[in-house]
Amino acid sequence: MNQTSLHRLLASDKLDNPENANLKELFDLRLSTNLSIIQNLFLSLYPESSIQNSFPLLLELLPELYKKRPKNLKVQDLRRLKDVNWYKSEKMVGMQLYVDHFNKDLKGLETKIPYFEKLGVNLIHIMPVTTRPKGENDGGYAVNSYTQVDKKYGSKADLLNLTKKLRSKNMHLMMDFVVNHTSDEFPWAKKAMAGDKKFQDYYYTYPDRKLPDEFEYSLPEIFPQTSSGNFTFNTKMNRWVMTVFNNYQWDLNYKNPMVFMDMLTNLVELANLGVDVIRFDALAFLWKKLGTNSQNLPEAHNLIALFRMCLQVVAPGVVLLAEAIVSPQEIIKYFGEGIKKGNECDIAYNATLMALLWNSIATKKTHLLYKNLMNLPGKPIEGTWINYIRCHDDIGLGFDDRYIYEVGWDAYAHRKFLLDYYCQKLDWSPAMGQIFMYNPKNGDGRITGSAASLLGLEKGLEQNNSELIKLAVNKILMLHAIILSYGGIPMIYAGDEIGTLNDYSYLKNKNLKEDSRWVNRPKQDWKTVSGLDKIDTPQTQIFHSLKKLITIRRNTPVFADTNNLVLHQTPSPHIFMIERTNNSDKDVLVICNFDDNINMIDTVDLVSRGYVSGGKLKDLVLGESITLKSGLLEINPFQILWLSKS
Ligand code: GLC
Repeated sequence: MNQTSLHRLLASDKLDNPENANLKELFDLRLSTNLSIIQNLFLSLYPESSIQNSFPLLLELLPELYKKRPKNLKVQDLRRLKDVNWYKSEKMVGMQLYVDHFNKDLKGLETKIPYFEKLGVNLIHIMPVTTRPKGENDGGYAVNSYTQVDKKYGSKADLLNLTKKLRSKNMHLMMDFVVNHTSDEFPWAKKAMAGDKKFQDYYYTYPDRKLPDEFEYSLPEIFPQTSSGNFTFNTKMNRWVMTVFNNYQWDLNYKNPMVFMDMLTNLVELANLGVDVIRFDALAFLWKKLGTNSQNLPEAHNLIALFRMCLQVVAPGVVLLAEAIVSPQEIIKYFGEGIKKGNECDIAYNATLMALLWNSIATKKTHLLYKNLMNLPGKPIEGTWINYIRCHDDIGLGFDDRYIYEVGWDAYAHRKFLLDYYCQKLDWSPAMGQIFMYNPKNGDGRITGSAASLLGLEKGLEQNNSELIKLAVNKILMLHAIILSYGGIPMIYAGDEIGTLNDYSYLKNKNLKEDSRWVNRPKQDWKTVSGLDKIDTPQTQIFHSLKKLITIRRNTPVFADTNNLVLHQTPSPHIFMIERTNNSDKDVLVICNFDDNINMIDTVDLVSRGYVSGGKLKDLVLGESITLKSGLLEINPFQILWLSKS
């Protein structure tokens, strides 16, 4: 039982009527329930012997932060405490977007709420909108502030209006908390540059290269092409500063407890704007230790759990998403292990599924997908995934080499094949992606491109090749159908729902041209949207089919994530089959075909699982029954079936 469940249990008789609940009493109850775990986590990072009096400061801070939380959000917190599954529900469907690329600014976004409603999206992830440096700023991930809205997007009042409007429609907002670093223009960085020792200690700063050189031995490079090394010399401060990402993003020094407390304050302020899901950006990097790669360290996990346990006391209706695009075995740890089980992040990106889906498209095979998924440890019942086929970042091939060898391939050659397939090095490949951060030293590289361009729509349209276009549309729909039925929150990247192609305009912008991730951050194509109900094109077909899939998902309760996913392997190397089951007649069997030929499934399997009745199958996607003509079921290229028992 995690701490949220414990709160629910202890407060059960007081949660019946959240509007009239004694808020202070419930805050005290939550504080006392979490106090010992908070203390243990805090002292594991900041032992009493080394730092005087910092734990009492945290104890003073928590009630102060609670005081600042608006009353309506306090009441909403209680409603959510009661509704265990709100973020795991089949009703949740997300869309990710850059506000300016979507519809100019926050007000513009608000006017498009009907568009989300039309598609069935009820969770919107907006990329950073707070103030940032004028030139390069990593799309706002170099923050000058955590809550001041950049003029380009509007004002804080616009953001508050947006969250209010979304709440009134029972929709949700997700925003980033850039927890690992600030920009070099952040007030703390400016004070550090001005010589203020207190703030130099908010970052990792050094007078000479001794420690930076020692760190460099074991630190990998995140952006080797554009920002090599992990330290930058700052001439104003006359010191080296740790900059693991870009040289204008300064890593925060969480060894200093004041950094934790000030960042907790920033986190709560963000939550108090009415944000429902907070994405902990780059959280694998939070703790640095000499001699290690400073990723996924046990201390980072303790720190994240500490943030979560404190946030739960102050704002228990807000959930945390782990942005840990790391190896499959490491991702799962962000849900928490041991005493932290279920007490770290509520949600994590399913980067493993994402990368392996692209692998299956390129190889047309599913054995590597099964191998990786079957060997993953289970997640806690309170945790769920963000399932996605791509996001605003690159697609990294973050799955285990071990399993590549086990299926009989050479890992280095296979990864090279995938980069070649997606990044226009193979004539026969339909993909039109670009390579990102290729490192010739080890052959590592990542892939960028919109879903439609990576899946062949761009090439198909360019060549006016109707067969290629048809296959691309089917692939786009199949991958989305998988994320809609896998278990967790499906997150669609804005534009993919209308097959938007790569956007090459970034190459003309001096601040963006080195970063090919901008190719997959296109502007929303409102012209296509205006024709959705009037013309029949591949783009409008994608929208309408996706909308239908979303409607089915939202009306199929077994799609809620209750850890009710079962993987079934079939003799065909091209088929992917999963079942969402609560052992009832409402279960759903998901079958898809990654091959561009028809594949067969022996219906004996389907009969024994209860999906055949009177020689017929019921497919929710087609919306009709399929009559079995023989003992074999035919699955078309890139077809998806959602079979239901009743
Ligand atoms: C995360 C973001 C990415 C950004 C990085 C540094 O990985 O998704 O866009 O570049 O953090 O903040």
